[in-house]
Amino acid sequence: MTMRAPRGAARGCWLFTSACLIVACSHTQGPAAAAAPTTTAASDPVVAFETVRAVLQSPRCVNCHPTGDQPTQGDDSHLHQQFVQRGPEGRGATGLACATCHGKANPPDSYGEHMPPGVSTDWRLPPPEHKMVFAGLSSRALCLQIKDRKQNGGKDMAGLLHHIADDPLTRWGWSPGYGRKPVPVPHDEFVRAFKQWADAGAPCPPARVAQH
Ligand code: HEC
Ligand code: HEC
Repeated sequence: MTMRAPRGAARGCWLFTSACLIVACSHTQGPAAAAAPTTTAASDPVVAFETVRAVLQSPRCVNCHPTGDQPTQGDDSHLHQQFVQRGPEGRGATGLACATCHGKANPPDSYGEHMPPGVSTDWRLPPPEHKMVFAGLSSRALCLQIKDRKQNGGKDMAGLLHHIADDPLTRWGWSPGYGRKPVPVPHDEFVRAFKQWADAGAPCPPARVAQH
């Protein structure tokens, strides 16, 4: 209860004064730093969305959710080598399918670094009809896109939650194969933040805040 008043106050003035914006920004860093086990989850759903955003825009996710039609690689998200393309279904161009190199599981650690990772349900990009770009978007744009069923492949919140919590493509981000860093936010914390945001009606950050 004691926490609510200051947080509500900060958010109320967040919209109107830049002095308060600084206060609000220091709030939004809470959940990103919440990887520390002692930190409690924020109760503000817009703040919870920042935890979701930190995951979606981490390299393991962005590399399959790029701007344009080429997957990216590595922590710096450079364009995928061999000029690999999304292709008509997200599975690569004719003659250079993802499956040529990416298998049904990560290769064993003994193979070393820079091996093509794999998942049981086929390694691929989202199809051209709903590309689900995560790279480079503001919080607000990312938020609006995720809940737009025209852009997210027709998923309602339950479908999205399933994808986020259980889909092998998403789970891969937490066991990405030898030499790659996993997503920096723990999986359970990500799911908790997503639920908190969804249960509160999936509110998006206001436009002005998204631009800073
Ligand atoms: C190997 C590529 C790949 C990786 C890595 C990947 N995704 Fe995806 N993602 C996809 C594909 C393909 C789809 C479209 C799924 C479909 O159409 O069934 C998708 C769709 C989504 C969607 C939209 C919901 C849906 O079911 O279409 C969300 C949200 C999402 N991914 C989140 C993530 C997150 C979070 C991560 C990182 C932890 C991640 N993705 C990593 C390929 C990937
Ligand atoms: C010619 C072989 C080849 C093809 C075809 C190929 N890849 Fe890759 N891919 C690789 C290799 C090798 C790596 C590992 C690079 C590294 O770790 O330095 C990789 C890594 C990746 C990564 C980076 C993972 C990360 O987070 O660093 C993504 C994403 C990816 N590929 C997506 C795709 C998609 C999607 C397709 C099909 C549209 C595809 N690749 C087709 C060989 C290939």
